[in-house]
Amino acid sequence: MSVAQAFDDWMLTNQGAMEIALAQFLPSAAVVPARLHEAMRYTALEGGKRVRPALVFAAGELFDADPDLLTRAASAVEMIHVYSLVHDDMPCMDDDALRRGKPTVHVKYDEATALLVGDALQAQAFSVLSESTADPVRVLAMVRMLAQAAGSLGMCGGQAIDLASVGTALTVTELEQMHRLKTGALLRASVFLGALCGKALNANEEAALDAYARAVGLAFQVVDDILDATADSATLGKTAGKDAADNKPTYVSLLGLDTSRILAKKLLNDALTAIAPFGDKANRLAELAHLIVHRTA
Ligand code: IPE
Ligand code: IPE
Ligand code: MG
Ligand code: MG
Ligand code: MG
Repeated sequence: MSVAQAFDDWMLTNQGAMEIALAQFLPSAAVVPARLHEAMRYTALEGGKRVRPALVFAAGELFDADPDLLTRAASAVEMIHVYSLVHDDMPCMDDDALRRGKPTVHVKYDEATALLVGDALQAQAFSVLSESTADPVRVLAMVRMLAQAAGSLGMCGGQAIDLASVGTALTVTELEQMHRLKTGALLRASVFLGALCGKALNANEEAALDAYARAVGLAFQVVDDILDATADSATLGKTAGKDAADNKPTYVSLLGLDTSRILAKKLLNDALTAIAPFGDKANRLAELAHLIVHRTA
């Protein structure tokens, strides 16, 4: 089997594991309030690339993680991510009608349901993590890691800057900060959540992982900006060309496509350099960095 085929198979296996875990960790659509639970399952199941769970699994493999805790961490970070997408698409934010190839939650259901789906997914993420039977000190560190990445100093903070920046001219430094918060923080947390499921890191390992996680975190949103400007809605499963239509400051609007692509490649290189000391054991993380930069959707 080729290396590329082995990676594709690994991704498929993880996506399958995620589907099963999320289906288990989300309340059944038969449980009251049925409509809310149906909407949570509608948006969280059967869709998405599951890149954040893949980062959790890859970092976990590197540090011999506890499998049950790893599955909980991957599910929790994906729930936070899905909640962020549901709210991101609402009329008060990006006002998008298409997500993962399906109507967005507020379109399919209604705005109040979309708000509650996000709220409930966020709460469920922490519930799933905290129900682990692993060492409570470790679980607490993971809860803290995820909470900080999701909150006002992480994803929510980035989203606030994003909304406040519509129609304004950000500096490259300001744009980078916005992207690091709104998207980078949760990707970074994914890597560290995976690592926290395994044996303790020494200072060098932690610094290497941090450099990797920051590089792929920023690269992810740079590529998201590029794809918004270059791919079509059918391929993306979400509305293409939305950033320009909404006058959002992005890497493409600020630096242009070519410079954005060069930056994405530089960040890939930074990520690969950071994990080089781990050798072949970090192959999955390296392959994920390639996927994040070279993906077409
Ligand atoms: C989209 O994330 C939102 C961003 C943070 C850029 P993904 O591109 O990971 O979306 P899914 O999970 O595959 O749908
Ligand atoms: C969203 O960024 C980041 C989130 C925290 C959800 P975007 O608004 O660019 O994400 P898409 O393009 O709608 O997926
Ligand atoms: Mg947005
Ligand atoms: Mg959006
Ligand atoms: Mg986008």
